[in-house]
Amino acid sequence: MEILDLPEKLKKEKDLTDSEFKYILENNDLDSRIRTLAVEEREKIYGKDVYVRGLIEFTNYCKNDCYYCGIRRSNLKAHRYRLTRGEILACCDEGYKLGYRTFVLQGGEDLSYSDDDICGIVSSIKESHPDCAVTLSIGEKSRETYLKYYSAGTDRYLLRHETADNEHYSKLHPANMSPDNRKRCLYDLKEIGFQVGAGFMVGSPYQTTENIISDLRFLKELSPDMIGIGPYLTHDETPFAGFKNGSYQLTIKLLSILRLMFPYVLLPATTALGTINVRGREEGILAGANVLMPNLSPVSVRKYYELYENKICTGDESAQCRNCLEKRVESIGYRIITDIGNVKR
Ligand code: 5AD
Ligand code: FES
Repeated sequence: MEILDLPEKLKKEKDLTDSEFKYILENNDLDSRIRTLAVEEREKIYGKDVYVRGLIEFTNYCKNDCYYCGIRRSNLKAHRYRLTRGEILACCDEGYKLGYRTFVLQGGEDLSYSDDDICGIVSSIKESHPDCAVTLSIGEKSRETYLKYYSAGTDRYLLRHETADNEHYSKLHPANMSPDNRKRCLYDLKEIGFQVGAGFMVGSPYQTTENIISDLRFLKELSPDMIGIGPYLTHDETPFAGFKNGSYQLTIKLLSILRLMFPYVLLPATTALGTINVRGREEGILAGANVLMPNLSPVSVRKYYELYENKICTGDESAQCRNCLEKRVESIGYRIITDIGNVKR
C-alpha cells in the first residue's frame, strides 16, 4: 500500500491496519487530503446541516474521582450546585422557545437524584414537549436503572468510554472504577434501545498512539450513533494539573478520521474544542463534525461546571449562545437545523 493512498483507502474501506493508522496519526503530510475527503463524505450525507442539542448541566456533584476532571469528588474547592426539577424544566422551556428540540441532561454521578427523580424529570419534559428528544448523560448505572430511564421516555444516552485500553484506563481513574463496567454500560444501553454516544479525550495524560488506535477499534465494534471527542484540557485542582493540554491539530484530524470511518455518525464539535481554539468549533465542522451542543444551563451556574479551565460560554455573553452559534455556523456557509433528528423509537 502506497502511503499516499491512505486517505482514499480509509474512505473506501472505513478502516486501516494498525501501522497505517499509526502513520496518519503521527504524520501531518496527509492531513489536508483526509480533511477534504471527510468533508466530501459529510456533505454527501448531511449537506451543510448542523444539528444542535441543548445541554443542561444540572448537577456538578460527583461520587467519582477521575484524575482528569475538575468536578471530581476530591476537589474541595469546586463550588457545588444542583438544579431542581423545576429549574431543569424551565431550562427546557426556554430552550424550546429558542428552537431546540433535543435536551441533553448531563451531570456528575450524583446519588441524590433517585431513579424515580430522573424518570420524573424525563417524563415531565416529554409531557411538555412531546416533539423533543431527551438525552441523559449521567454516568454508569445498573442495567435495571437504564431500563427505567428508557421506560420513562429517554431517547439517547451519552457515556464516553474515555479510553478503550485497560492499562491506560487505570492511569486515568482510581482503582474502584473499571473499564469493563463502563463498556458493559455502553452495551446494555445499546441493547435496551437507546441511541448511544461514546467517545474519548484526545491527548489525555499517558495516552499513546496505540491507545487511540484501540479507541477507534472499540468504536468500530460498538458502532455508536454519536462519538464525542475533544482535547484533554488541564485543571489546576486535579492530580493531572502538571500535564499539558491535548493537541488541537490531532483532535481536528481525528474528527476527519471518524467521519471517514463512520460516515453517518453524529459528531459534535465540542465545547473543549471551542475552548482550546477560538475557532475550534467552526474548524471542527470544517473537518467533518455535524453537531453543536450549546449550553442551556442558567448562566448563574455555568462557571461551576468546570471540568477544565477557561471553558467558553460561561460568562454573561453566553445568554446569547444561540445567536452567537447561528452567526458562527453561517460564517462558514453551514446552517443550523433545529428539528429532532433521527429518533429511533
Ligand atoms: N478535559 C477535557 N475533557 C474532559 N472531560 C472531563 N474532564 C476533562 C478535561 N479535563 C470530558 C470527559 C467526560 C466529558 C463529560 O468531559 O471525557 O466524559
Ligand atoms: Fe456561547 Fe458563543 S456559543 S457565547
